[in-house]
Amino acid sequence: MAEMLHLLPVIAAVFFAQAYADYTYPAVWSAATLVNSTVPYMDGKTDLKGYLAYTNSTGGPRPAVIIYPDWDGISNYERWRANLLAAQGYIAFVADVYNTSVQQGPTLPIAARSALMGEYRSNSTKWRNRLLAALTKVRTFDLVQKDKIFAIGYCFGGGGVLELMRAWPSTPGLLGVAGFHAGPLTTAGPKALAGNPLQVQVYNGADDPGITTENRLAFTSEMRAANMTWNYYAYGHTVHAFTLMENPIWDGSKSMSNGYNPSSDKASWWALRGLLLESFSLTNSTNPYTAAGGAYDYQTGINGERLLSAVAA
Ligand SMILES: *[C@@H]1O[C@H](CO)[C@@H](O)[C@H](O)[C@H]1NC(C)=O
Ligand SMILES: *[C@@H]1O[C@H](CO)[C@@H](O)[C@H](O)[C@H]1NC(C)=O
Ligand SMILES: *[C@@H]1O[C@H](CO)[C@@H](O)[C@H](O)[C@H]1NC(C)=O
Ligand SMILES: *[C@@H]1O[C@H](CO)[C@@H](O)[C@H](O)[C@H]1NC(C)=O
Ligand SMILES: *[C@@H]1O[C@H](CO)[C@@H](O)[C@H](O)[C@H]1NC(C)=O
Ligand SMILES: *[C@@H]1O[C@H](CO)[C@@H](O)[C@H](O)[C@H]1NC(C)=O
Repeated sequence: MAEMLHLLPVIAAVFFAQAYADYTYPAVWSAATLVNSTVPYMDGKTDLKGYLAYTNSTGGPRPAVIIYPDWDGISNYERWRANLLAAQGYIAFVADVYNTSVQQGPTLPIAARSALMGEYRSNSTKWRNRLLAALTKVRTFDLVQKDKIFAIGYCFGGGGVLELMRAWPSTPGLLGVAGFHAGPLTTAGPKALAGNPLQVQVYNGADDPGITTENRLAFTSEMRAANMTWNYYAYGHTVHAFTLMENPIWDGSKSMSNGYNPSSDKASWWALRGLLLESFSLTNSTNPYTAAGGAYDYQTGINGERLLSAVAA
């Protein structure tokens, strides 16, 4: 069980009290070529430990995607998403937003998760520093194209990538951010600066009870005031945590604030994949409408995987 609606900790605690085993996700990549490791890094004097994944069926530098975890920190869920992105040809790095002394994953007590999120959400300086530490680390990897970095996040991490976006211009190499069931949409700190060039996408459930109309309007105003390139997707018949396949499917009742929605999960994942291809200039954007444009171009890896490669448009 990786996350829960932050506004309803009591219901959350009761509903998911028994779910303490980390979920096993389907391995849909080639184990023969997936390289992974845990990577120590720091934010000031605080020890952090991220998770790195990439494929060795191709060599050379490539774009990177940083994944910011939901409220229980790094668990199988984030490592799974990282492996999926690695198999698509990217360098994937799961950021550590807590620290090495926090027991991250499904065993982290609900009360501790809420307290931890509160520490960051209430102090935008602390939060931005911690988020930026991962970007700084990723830019040191030889295999990363340092001007082609994207950040995605889930729930607390989705709110996190919006906070990271607001740290521009202190975000070298970062092209954009995407938040899934992201919250909060607003910040306790300074808003996005005018002219912020980052691409922003939010993939939220239209029925997520944690997202108020007021929040959405505040976010919309912030994006417009900064003249950003942004999108807010509100997936229908979809509540919070809709990308976590271990969650029961939403029954449509108000008593369920979380629920998996397979079609919204897939649609948002495709949206992200397209966004990454566009942002990293891996599409044939001269003419994306032709079948040949396809609009994605692949090369074949040494073990037969289809890997992305840049198309000179
Ligand atoms: C790629 O990585 C896998 C998994 O770590 C390893 O077993 C394999 O030998 C590596 N292949 C190459 C060509 O480096
Ligand atoms: C990391 O790689 C090892 C060795 O290939 C594999 O056994 C393990 O499942 C991988 N970890 C994750 C989280 O995918
Ligand atoms: C690690 O995080 C916990 C919870 O926020 C905090 O109490 C502790 O001081 C942190 N450790 C370091 C070294 O920052
Ligand atoms: C916010 O975090 C910064 C950086 O960690 C720290 O220096 C500052 O004292 C914190 N502010 C408050 C009000 O706790
Ligand atoms: C807003 O951004 C667009 C590009 O997305 C640009 O053409 C326009 O000049 C910008 N407007 C202002 C006021 O900066
Ligand atoms: C990209 O689009 C241009 C213009 O339509 C076309 O000439 C070129 O062949 C396309 N390249 C690929 C790889 O599809």
